[in-house]
Amino acid sequence: MSRESEFVVVANRLPVDRVAGGNGWRRSPGGLVSAIAPVMRSRQGTWVGWSGAAGEELDPFVEDGMRLVPVQQTAEDVELYYEGFSNATLWPLYHDVIAPPVYDRAMWDAYVRVNERFAAAAAEVASEGAVVWVQDYQLQLVPAMLRALRPDLKIGFFLHIPFPPPELFYQLPWRRKILEGLLGADLVGFQLPGAAANFVRLCRRLLDARTVKQDVEWEGRRVRARAFPISVDVGELRELISRQEVRWRADEIRADLGGGIVLLGVDRLDYTKGITQRLQAFGELFADRELKPGEAVFAQIATPSRERVEQYQLLRDQIEQQVGRINGEYAELGSPVIHYLHTSYDREELAALFLAADVMVVTPLRDGMNLVAKEYVACREDLRGVLVLSEFAGAAPELRRGAFLVNPYDIDGLKETLLAAIRCEPAEQARRMRVMRKRVLEHDVDRWAAEFLDELEDPAAQPAG
Ligand code: ADP
Ligand code: G6P
Repeated sequence: MSRESEFVVVANRLPVDRVAGGNGWRRSPGGLVSAIAPVMRSRQGTWVGWSGAAGEELDPFVEDGMRLVPVQQTAEDVELYYEGFSNATLWPLYHDVIAPPVYDRAMWDAYVRVNERFAAAAAEVASEGAVVWVQDYQLQLVPAMLRALRPDLKIGFFLHIPFPPPELFYQLPWRRKILEGLLGADLVGFQLPGAAANFVRLCRRLLDARTVKQDVEWEGRRVRARAFPISVDVGELRELISRQEVRWRADEIRADLGGGIVLLGVDRLDYTKGITQRLQAFGELFADRELKPGEAVFAQIATPSRERVEQYQLLRDQIEQQVGRINGEYAELGSPVIHYLHTSYDREELAALFLAADVMVVTPLRDGMNLVAKEYVACREDLRGVLVLSEFAGAAPELRRGAFLVNPYDIDGLKETLLAAIRCEPAEQARRMRVMRKRVLEHDVDRWAAEFLDELEDPAAQPAG
């Protein structure tokens, strides 16, 4: 497959992941794949990424209507580049240092090495003048590396997670190199305007680059930094909830959960998601006798994630202990107050869960966007259900008029908000849901991709004079 693709997505992960121990594939975890996969299917591009297994050498293949080009990672790359620099350095640094970032030179070296490999793989498959769209924090050096190899390409970059303010970014020993890597792109996209502004400010301060509004002049080119809040595949979700079996499954889930008010959390098991805070608040409502067992139940679904990174192991232990303690104290025989499932589900089951939930609880301490919040809204055609949403989710500015916003660090505030959500009357639920649905339905993932790619290909965007 040499130099024949006009549209190439480059992401650390392929959209499918090896089923452990087997030969099959399943959808990879996380919001990036949820958002980019539908865009790829409709644009028939090529996706360059990693299969999720160490040391696996694979030829290009087609899966689920997408052309996939695997990039190999050795066990050492996985440890130093993926678990290390990507997820023990950049992930916590870019999420408000909720966990302490690790600064390790061997991890940085691996990050450079693996980014070079991704850039070389993209340069191999892209046709003359192709559009190459590089994704997320694992590949921030790829734009400049790719431009050096293939100056003919149009290169876009999108960061799915927050971009930190200078005060935090300054900690990074390789801070200039990261900015230079990103400046290889023609267009650098962020979830929110504040992140784009952080980037432009950092280019000015750390690289002495000339900036004009949201543009950075760099090596004779003009690099645009813009915000494009990502969204969900509304068409797919609508189709799912129209299926009779999904609706039956939703009824079955409600019955299985005992018939009380259902609160739901659906997240990757990640310390940025505020899972312990929401469970603590919910547990305290029983301690305070605001709720009785049977009256309300919390279903927390947590996808296993980055299981060899220490902070993720600690979090898992912490949550399991917490769930055990709360159930031990407040549950009654046959009716736990929290149902905790450490697993991932297929899209049908997720849609049924969204339909079954009276209150969707999304309380990240920091999140680039949070697609779960938008997926819930997209599924509630019936205008029922309430969204409790953290102020620190990227989705908050778009959904604030319909959601119950919370500061997840404020446990008393969280308790009050959960109670208000539980007691919200149907007419008020409908009013709030209508406002949120208008936003999500009008701004779905196709529109997001079209806006990004139109801006990338905008002929009016002139190089710096
Ligand atoms: P992140 O990208 O940090 O994981 P998002 O909320 O933006 O967070 O995206 C998560 C995506 O993964 C959503 O599309 C959501 O539906 C999906 N997801 C989350 N938890 C599960 C689960 N337990 N099973 C299957 N899919 C899940
Ligand atoms: C978030 C990140 C993605 C990442 C996903 C799953 O959505 O923005 O880049 O792919 O989480 O994480 P993982 O480490 O399993 O790829």
